[in-house]
Order: sequence, then C-alpha cells, then structure tokens
Amino acid sequence: MARHRIVFLVLFVNLVSCNNNNTSIPTPSVYEPSWTYKCVPDEGCQRSQSPEPTLSNVTGTVYESLDLCRTVCGRFGGIWPKPGTAALSMQTVKIHPNYLRFDLIDAPVETRELLAKMTQVATANLIDECNGNVTEVVTTPVVVYITIKTSNLELSWQTDEKYMLDVQSKDANIAVHISAETVYGARHALETFTQLVTSDKPDYTDTYKCALRLVSGAKIRDKPVYPHRGFLLDTSRNFIPLEDIKRMIDAMATTKMNVFHWHVTDSHSFPLESARVPQFTRYGAYSAYEIYSTEEVRELISYAQIRGVRVVIEIDSPAHAGNGWQWGKEYGFGDLAVCVNAKAWRSLCIQPPCGQLNPANPKMYQVLRDLYKDIAETLPKPALFHMGGDEVFLECWNSTEEIVTYMKSKGYERNVEGFMKLWAEFHSTALGIWDEEIAALGGSQQPVMLWSSELTQAHRIQRYLSKDRYVIEVWEPVSSSLMSQLLNLGYRVVSVPKDIWYLDHGFWGNTKYSNWRKMYSHVLPVEAHVLGGEVAMWSEYVDSQALDTRVWPRTAAVAERLWSNPSSSASAAEPRLQRLRSRLAARGIPSDVLSPAWCSQHDARCL
Ligand SMILES: *[C@@H]1O[C@H](CO)[C@@H](O)[C@H](O)[C@H]1NC(C)=O
Ligand SMILES: *[C@@H]1O[C@H](CO)[C@@H](O)[C@H](O)[C@H]1NC(C)=O
Ligand SMILES: *[C@@H]1O[C@H](CO)[C@@H](O)[C@H](O)[C@H]1NC(C)=O
Repeated sequence: MARHRIVFLVLFVNLVSCNNNNTSIPTPSVYEPSWTYKCVPDEGCQRSQSPEPTLSNVTGTVYESLDLCRTVCGRFGGIWPKPGTAALSMQTVKIHPNYLRFDLIDAPVETRELLAKMTQVATANLIDECNGNVTEVVTTPVVVYITIKTSNLELSWQTDEKYMLDVQSKDANIAVHISAETVYGARHALETFTQLVTSDKPDYTDTYKCALRLVSGAKIRDKPVYPHRGFLLDTSRNFIPLEDIKRMIDAMATTKMNVFHWHVTDSHSFPLESARVPQFTRYGAYSAYEIYSTEEVRELISYAQIRGVRVVIEIDSPAHAGNGWQWGKEYGFGDLAVCVNAKAWRSLCIQPPCGQLNPANPKMYQVLRDLYKDIAETLPKPALFHMGGDEVFLECWNSTEEIVTYMKSKGYERNVEGFMKLWAEFHSTALGIWDEEIAALGGSQQPVMLWSSELTQAHRIQRYLSKDRYVIEVWEPVSSSLMSQLLNLGYRVVSVPKDIWYLDHGFWGNTKYSNWRKMYSHVLPVEAHVLGGEVAMWSEYVDSQALDTRVWPRTAAVAERLWSNPSSSASAAEPRLQRLRSRLAARGIPSDVLSPAWCSQHDARCL
C-alpha cells in the first residue's frame, strides 16, 4: 500500500513540472554514467560528485574503476587477508600475461614441478580479472624471481608459510621478488601478487577492452598467526559435486586458508568410494552419480596441494555412521552398525537417520581397517585424519542386546561410566588400526583429530584420550569453558564455536545466523596449543545450488581472523572485503552481498 502511494505522488509531481515546462533539461552527450573514484585518506574510495564527460583526464588519485581504486587505496590496498606489513605505491603499471615470466632458479629442484603449477594458477587468476581476455597488449617485461629455502613439500601444522614480496618497476622493467622458506609460502606470495593486479576496465564499459594494471611498487612481509585455518564441508547430508568442492578450494586459496576438512560421511549417506569395501557406496550413496571415486579423491588432494590446502578426511564414528554400514548381515558379518534408520529416532540419535557402529562385533573393526587402509593410501603424508567421535547416544548401544552382553563380558557396568569405557575402547582400537595401516605404508605416527564430546570433558578426557595423540576440535558455544580447560590440561585444540562459526545456523530450529561481521569479530586466544579454527558448512540445508553464497564471503572473514588476527574492526576491513567479492566473482565464485551498491561506491558512508 505505502509503495503505491509514493508512486502516485511522483507521477503527480512530474505532471506539475511538465505543465510549468519553460526551460528544457540539457541533454548530456553520453547517457551512461561514467563515475570515477577518489582515494580519500581515512574515507577510502569515494565516487566522484558527477559523471565525468570523458576519462582522458584520469590522473593521480582519481581512478576510473572502483576495483582500481581499492587496489591502491589504504595501507593494505585490496589484499585479503590483511598482510602483516605492507607498503604499496598508489601508481600502477600496465602489464600483459604474455610478458610475465617466472624465474624458478633459486627454488630447489624438488619444488619446481609443484611451483610451476602454482604459477600457472596465479597467471590464470590474473587473466580472470579481464574475464579471460586481456585485450590491451603492453610489452613491459615482468619477471617474478622466486627464492625457496627448503625442498620439503609436506603440508602440516609445522609448515612455514611466511613470505616476502617486493615489486619494483624501473625503466620499463618490472621485477617481482618472492622469498619463502617453503613452496607454500611462495604460493601465498603469488596469491598476494595477483591481488596487486586489477583490470582497468571502467565499471560501465563492455568487456572487449581490458588491460591489467599492477601496483608499481610494493614491499610486503607476511605470515599467518595460526597454522590451522580450516573450512569444513559436509558432503553426506546432501551430496556436493566435485566441481563445487574445487571451487571452494579456489576460494580458500584466494583467502589463504589451508585445511579442507572433508566431513565426507555421516549416517545419512556414504559417498566415499572404498576400493576394498565397495559396499559402502553401494549401500550408502544417494545415487550412482553421487559418489567420489578414489581417482577423484586423489585428484582433489593434488588440486588442493597446488593451492596450499591440506585435505583432512573425516570418517565420523562411532556415532554418525549408518547408511553404508547396513549390509553386514547379508554378507554374514552380523550387525556392523546398530539402530540404523530406526523409526523411533528421538532417544537413539541426534537427528534421523540413526546409526552407530557396533563395537561388540570384531567384523566391524575388520571392515573399518579396510576403509582406513584405502584412506591411508590416498592421503598425502604426514596424513591428518579426523575420527569424528561426537554425539554418541548411549541409549542406542544400551538398547542393543549384543552390545549389552559384550559389555558384561568386559566387566563394563551399564551406567554412564561403563559406556564411556566402551566408547573409549572404540577410539583406542580404531587409532591402533590407523597407526598400523600408516606404519605399513612407512609413515610415522601422527596425531589424529576428534570432536569434543562427553568423552572429552575436562574431568574425563585424561583417562581415555592421550594429549599426544589427539587434537580436540572444540565446537561448544563461545560461552563454554571446555576449550580453556583442555588447554590447561595440555591438549591442542582447533576451535569451531558453533554459535559463531557454523554457516548453517540461522537456517533451522532456533539457531541464529552469524553475519560476516560477527564471524570476523570473534577472537581466539593466541597460544601454541590453539592450532587455529574452522568454519563449518553442515549440509542439511545446503547443496550445490546454494553453496557459494552460503559460504562466501563469510568464510573469508574467518580466514582473515585466522591469518592476521587483526585488532582493527570489521568496518575497517569492509572495503577490502568488497574488493575480495569482486575478485572471487572474477574467478567464478559467487558470494553474498555486503551492502547496497551505493554504500560500496562510498566507503565508510553507511556505517
Ligand atoms: C582535461 O585536462 C585539461 C588540462 O588540464 C583541461 O584543459 C580540460 O578541460 C580537461 N578536460 C576535462 C573534460 O576535464
Ligand atoms: C579477445 O579480444 C580480442 C580483441 O577484442 C578478440 O579479437 C579476440 O577474439 C578475443 N579472444 C577471446 C578468446 O575471446
Ligand atoms: C541402560 O539400560 C538399563 C536397563 O534399562 C538401565 O538400567 C540403565 O540405567 C541404562 N544405562 C544408561 C547409561 O542409560
């Protein structure tokens, strides 16, 4: 109703002005607006007062596109996440990918194949700034000299990711110097290098004319605050095609995240192919098309490695396991899992469909070993494996005669502590199997990850889970004291506070949506045993169609929190996040809107 009235009023005003029309409005020669942007100290990029009649006069601190303005404006330009220190020139020089060369002579031979692939990704990202076609050719040579100290290609919590990046232009020559301990530090430098480049395509023109501009001088020193900067994706509640996962990894690489936590299975479905146990997908996949083949998993792991991302596979157990495990009886193995798809689910699991592994059945461990063997062969070494371990429902085991009988034989009482013993026995047996399979492949013993749970309560954990072997992923809300208690006991933790860093909250039940500002503003303690954090995309209410904008740019907010842990506010970061959105879009990754476009054209004016 209100809107109709306003329209009516506008029509009326127009009528009046038409009737009194003595002077005609001057007609501009060009109808399209052609705004320019000014970089104003402390105010960021501001749109010009009136459209420019021609762009021929663009000089100094007036820029013909918003992206160009953002790339040079402010101490950190358009770089996301914010680097440790940066000094950037406000001038740019035109470059063309045909005249861009990478010099790998000072990188150890062992790193060069991987490094060459990393430089190809960087070049492709540059070309994306011009929508795939850099039409304006300039012949200025750009040479990127890369120095790497170690030949180590391992990705782990110990990987040194720091880098230095210098850009110098002299006499129509541009020299870029990158120096890093590891190939992964060099990759981050290459990523930052691409963020010093933008197209100079004015916002209003067609795409046919496009040049790349590089910030003409830069000096950057950078390293992450936390070694574990993760993104969790659940592919069990809803299947997420491999292409989508690759796109998520592209965006992770753009924001220097380094752990892809793949919650690949759950009680709902089992899409991970196992060469030794084909029953998992045969009985567990949603369809023949919703499976990750071993080949695809390997491909994804190497795709991620080129982008500095370590893949952590999680096989959640002993709870959150059902579909994919329900074939035991048919094959003479007995019940591998119990309570599977039980109709009266409320007392047996957190959400339908139920399912919990059967620790009373030795065949279950035999099948688990075959699965672990497949995974151990696939993961790069040192392998990081996540064993799940959350939300065991005692009632499910307690209502299963076979398990109750087994407990009696072991002398476990049928009370809570008795079931804790059974649960802990499962984890210690599973870890033993994992260790054996890793050892059989010549790998060394590594810690594994486990979710926080009843078993990881401060008064209980030391009895059952060694602090040397388990890293606890704490998902309690921020108000919980569990994380600090575990730190006091000497455990290493990864933090995923569910009321802040869960991307599915706000889409079901009484959960509350966290916007990017809230996600950005949450700070973790900085200490050696806090390895970092993760953002979690549980997939009950997301699939391929909604994925990108659910995840981005919110995940980027946490990426900056974990990389630079800035003391400045979310508002101060917003212009750079706007630039990141535009960069992600250029790379084919849609992300959610931060503000009305007017606000993005006028930094700091909508706070
Ligand atoms: C461009 O700059 C020249 C010299 O400074 C000036 O004479 C001319 O009016 C400017 N043109 C526009 C459209 O601003
Ligand atoms: C790139 O742009 C040029 C110049 O407009 C055009 O001739 C060429 O066909 C384009 N190439 C591609 C691959 O689109
Ligand atoms: C298991 O079931 C028995 C028999 O109903 C009951 O006495 C016991 O309290 C239950 N244990 C737990 C931990 O719920």
